[in-house]
Amino acid sequence: MLSNIINRHKVTFISRDYLDKLGFLEIETPLLIKSTPEGARDFLVPSRLSAGEFYALPQSPQMLKQIMMVSGIDKYFQIAKCFRDEDLRADRQPEFTQIDIEMSYITEEDIYVLVEGMLKRVFKETLGLDIPAPFPKMTYDEAMDKYGSDKPDLRYGLELVNVTELMKQTPFKVFLDAIAKGGIIKGLKAEGCAKFSRMEMDTLTEFVKQFGAKGLAWFKVTAGGIESPIAKFFEKPVQDELVKRFGAKDGDLIMLIADKPFTTNQCLDFLRRHMAEKLGLIDPNKFVFTWIVDFPLFMWNEEEKRFEPAHHPFTAPKTDDLSAFDRDLGAIKARAYDIVLNGVELGGGSIRIHNREMQAKVFKTIGISDEQANSRFGFLLEAFEYGAPPHGGVALGLDRMLMLMFKESSIRDVIVFPKTQKGQCLLTNAPSDVDEKQLRELHIKVNIIKKEEVAKSL
Ligand code: AMO
Ligand code: AMP
Repeated sequence: MLSNIINRHKVTFISRDYLDKLGFLEIETPLLIKSTPEGARDFLVPSRLSAGEFYALPQSPQMLKQIMMVSGIDKYFQIAKCFRDEDLRADRQPEFTQIDIEMSYITEEDIYVLVEGMLKRVFKETLGLDIPAPFPKMTYDEAMDKYGSDKPDLRYGLELVNVTELMKQTPFKVFLDAIAKGGIIKGLKAEGCAKFSRMEMDTLTEFVKQFGAKGLAWFKVTAGGIESPIAKFFEKPVQDELVKRFGAKDGDLIMLIADKPFTTNQCLDFLRRHMAEKLGLIDPNKFVFTWIVDFPLFMWNEEEKRFEPAHHPFTAPKTDDLSAFDRDLGAIKARAYDIVLNGVELGGGSIRIHNREMQAKVFKTIGISDEQANSRFGFLLEAFEYGAPPHGGVALGLDRMLMLMFKESSIRDVIVFPKTQKGQCLLTNAPSDVDEKQLRELHIKVNIIKKEEVAKSL
């Protein structure tokens, strides 16, 4: 832990020095602010002076850094604390740190070069490693197609293959039904795994079912042809073509999932990572970076039946054509990019909207009325009327970067006094109840609503 703390200091220090030498100003922004729409739940702080009103802790300094660009500061950075009330995982804490950056008069390429230069220096001066730059770029569509994920681990292959068209030629009802419902059929090849027992195949089937798959179709490639409980539904030419599409050879195993694109991709992403682990394909000493580009601007939220921003609502579309919004919303691409390292989203950012009409259009598209937009983001919309410069930026998750660099399995291991999975601080026992007097001063009376009632009312 001490060595991680020392390394954290070094990485922070080098990043600061790198940005300082390039003329960036480190500027602290307030923590007691108004709710920001980064997509997670806010932590709220009750106000004593304004009864019944709340501050929100920033999910990121996003709007604040944009206002600074409008005000004429053209290179900003901050080692910024961010707060998000979300379900916790190995790479998620309720409070975490970003190396937050924003610049004016730039394009995507300027961000790529800046971030690559910073990571090169950090890796060289802490790990003694020369990481090759520029990092490769992959479009979001390609990442989803080949890996079923927008943060693929590229330390190993196991690329996915789409065989939807081929499977239309078979009489296998499970596949045909899935296709009729708008589904796709994709899978991956595990080299040398035709030797897996029936029990191992059942375990893999149960594994993918956890993530929503209805089953796992599998084919063992042998010298005599294909072995599978469903082989009879596939005529010889289809079997041969399947083997060819996967580039499979004698002794390999092909596994397929048929479902809606989201479920198929999600299950295959988990299966791909699981197989890589099981087959020992991951070289722990490799650091493989990639930029994921050309994200969609909006994504469909199936639960809420509405489009929402794929990144955040300040991201510029790849078009200035406002009429594109009246055609196919899902087809509009964003000027957004993520940086991915070894299957983890290390950072993300975008070129921003700097024009009031476009910003208002995006708010409207995601269901924020003019009235709501003015009350929540009026200060930003107004700022765009003062000749706002084109600007953009990025934020790198410092905790995630340290976790990967120092080969820890959780960001908890690079944070002093981290929270548990339930968001508790084991040192101080926070969160905890407070004195009646403190609550009274805040004009607050606690009336706990039962969990089930909360769930029902949402
Ligand atoms: P984003 O929401 O993608 O972008 O966050 C940037 C990076 O912050 C890290 N991160 C986290 N780390 C630990 N725990 C969490 N709960 C957590 N959530 C996010 C990730 C992520 O890639 N304002 C924009 C950036 C921009 O557009 O400039 C933003 O916050 O590594
Ligand atoms: P069933 O007709 O449900 O008995 O399934 C026959 C075979 O197809 C079994 O091996 C299942 O695991 C497999 N299977 C069922 N549903 C799917 C699916 N959605 N995708 C891939 N394979 C499936």
